Amino acid sequence: SIVYLNGQLMPMQDARISPMDRGFLFGDGIYEVVPCFAGKPVGFKLHMQRMQQGLTELGIAQHFSDAQWQDIVAQLLSANGGGNLGVYLHVSRGTQMRRAHAYPSDVTPTVFAFTFEIGHAPSADPTQARTFKAVTEQDRRWRRCHIKSTALLGNIMHYHQGQQQGADEVLLFNEQQQLTEAASCNVFVVKDGVIATPLLDHQILPGITRYILLEVLRRHSRFDVQERSISRAEVLCADEIWLTSSSKEVAPVIELDGKPVGQGGIGPLWSEVQALFSAHKY
Ligand code: PDD
Repeated sequence: SIVYLNGQLMPMQDARISPMDRGFLFGDGIYEVVPCFAGKPVGFKLHMQRMQQGLTELGIAQHFSDAQWQDIVAQLLSANGGGNLGVYLHVSRGTQMRRAHAYPSDVTPTVFAFTFEIGHAPSADPTQARTFKAVTEQDRRWRRCHIKSTALLGNIMHYHQGQQQGADEVLLFNEQQQLTEAASCNVFVVKDGVIATPLLDHQILPGITRYILLEVLRRHSRFDVQERSISRAEVLCADEIWLTSSSKEVAPVIELDGKPVGQGGIGPLWSEVQALFSAHKY
């Protein structure tokens, strides 16, 4: 595939960065994953806002405008044949010839981007849906999970633990036994028709899919939607559990810690909500 590195398009196998890049040495950078269907990015502005917030918070002096990022995305989509592609955008603080913890003042950030196949848009048809089995674990990540840092060691260790137990995702709980998020997505729970998701704070990533889904649900007054803390007990007795992320959209969890969620199988609210999400996401 064709990738973008520091101002140039090139074949993936020709892309080179220094091992002294702070992204490599410290995980000192941020990233975004923007899903694109038929060449159209979903939630592009929201992804750009989150990236700018991350860059500002980390003090990384990378100042592309949204239009410049849009141009990179458009170039990559056309160089890679368009269609349904995820675009990964990555900015590290840059390369410095000496390893030092202090933020250097004189480096140029490294900008890297590539595309990957995401297949067809997720379906709202329960017979076609990708379902998930999850397990629960105590959240052992850092306390700045609102930053979309490339330093994902905490997340991938949780993910791996889940895989070792035959699961595809891991629901994480803080020390107060409240739900935070999953290893690579946000979480919604449904009980007696009420849809709830954890509040935004430093414990979770402010997911773009979460944001769009809340917007869509609030536009339809028939839904009762709450952003609030959610206890472990509530999760264990939920009627439905959904995962949200750019690649999954809204995905049903049908098994938690080896037991069926709700009545077993995909719940009745899920397909209604995934269909609304699909229709509104642009
Ligand atoms: N993951 N929480 C975590 C920890 C995530 O890694 C992600 C996304 C989300 C959902 O965010 P969004 O709706 O903006 O995709 C929540 C991406 C896709 C990844 O790392 O591949």
